[in-house]
Amino acid sequence: MLLGRSLRRPLAEHMKRINSVAEMKAVCRQFTSAGHALGLVPTMGALHEGHLSLVRASKSKCKFTTVSVFVNPLQFGPTEDFGKYPRNIERDAAMLEGLAVDVLFTPPVEEMYPAGTKTYVVVDDLSGRLDGASRPGHFRGVTTVVAKLFEIVRPDFAYFGQKDAAQVAVLRKMVRDLDMDVHLVVCPIVREKDGLALSSRNVYLSDEQRRQALVLHRALMRVQMLADRGERNAATLSQAGEQVIAEQPEARLDYFAIVNPDTLEPVIDISRGALVAVAAFFGPTRLIDNILLT
Ligand code: PAJ
Repeated sequence: MLLGRSLRRPLAEHMKRINSVAEMKAVCRQFTSAGHALGLVPTMGALHEGHLSLVRASKSKCKFTTVSVFVNPLQFGPTEDFGKYPRNIERDAAMLEGLAVDVLFTPPVEEMYPAGTKTYVVVDDLSGRLDGASRPGHFRGVTTVVAKLFEIVRPDFAYFGQKDAAQVAVLRKMVRDLDMDVHLVVCPIVREKDGLALSSRNVYLSDEQRRQALVLHRALMRVQMLADRGERNAATLSQAGEQVIAEQPEARLDYFAIVNPDTLEPVIDISRGALVAVAAFFGPTRLIDNILLT
């Protein structure tokens, strides 16, 4: 196995692992100075096939692919799961090495936020919608860390999952408003065979909660079916989705929303396309899912 891998990739090209911002900048500048396309896949680790689909997308387009694994304290609320968020860096590193990633960036918290850090990136309005409404400060943490990663790596392409649709909208707005020189590539949601969207937080679920969590996908599929049959009224579609969630009483609904995918503002009619997004708790675990109606 080890021999097979080293035969495919000479030792000198094995994945670099970098913890320091200064070294990461130096290595990434070497990549880009040669004029090659550089890809960045930002993650918080506990990698699964959803993350790996982003890595593969970067590998297929970019000469060099970097992946960051950083559990970003700034995007967790005081009562959220920062402390117990799943961390398994050696397993993650082995998966990324297997995909021939060029650099794995794993900065410690003090490296990303040295004592005395005072600068944050905030996208007004959008950051308070959907997950931003339920998780105050969450998107400020996301935009701040992603802006820092963009400056450290200066990627040509950065890869994100449609799974976090509100995150995509907020980051797109940040890139546009700050004239950042990066193309965001948004990849489709990777699901289990039964429809559950892959998430690092799925490991928190008991077997019973995992079964209950399928209600998210069921509710979205009901909305999709009604829209396919011609229903255009967002309130009617929303009610139908919420009704499906209500049939699973252990699910505690956070939001069920039909919004404009760019502004995250509610739409009345879905004729011009809409994002249908849902968040619910199963026990203490909050899961999200969505579909795009086009
Ligand atoms: P994390 O939850 O680790 O997700 C990293 C990336 O993987 C995100 O762009 C997310 O949308 C994508 N992803 C997760 N599950 C997916 C699935 N089932 N299918 C496709 N893509 C999926 O999102 C974050 O980390 C953080 O907020 C981060 C952007 C890294 C900033 O800290």
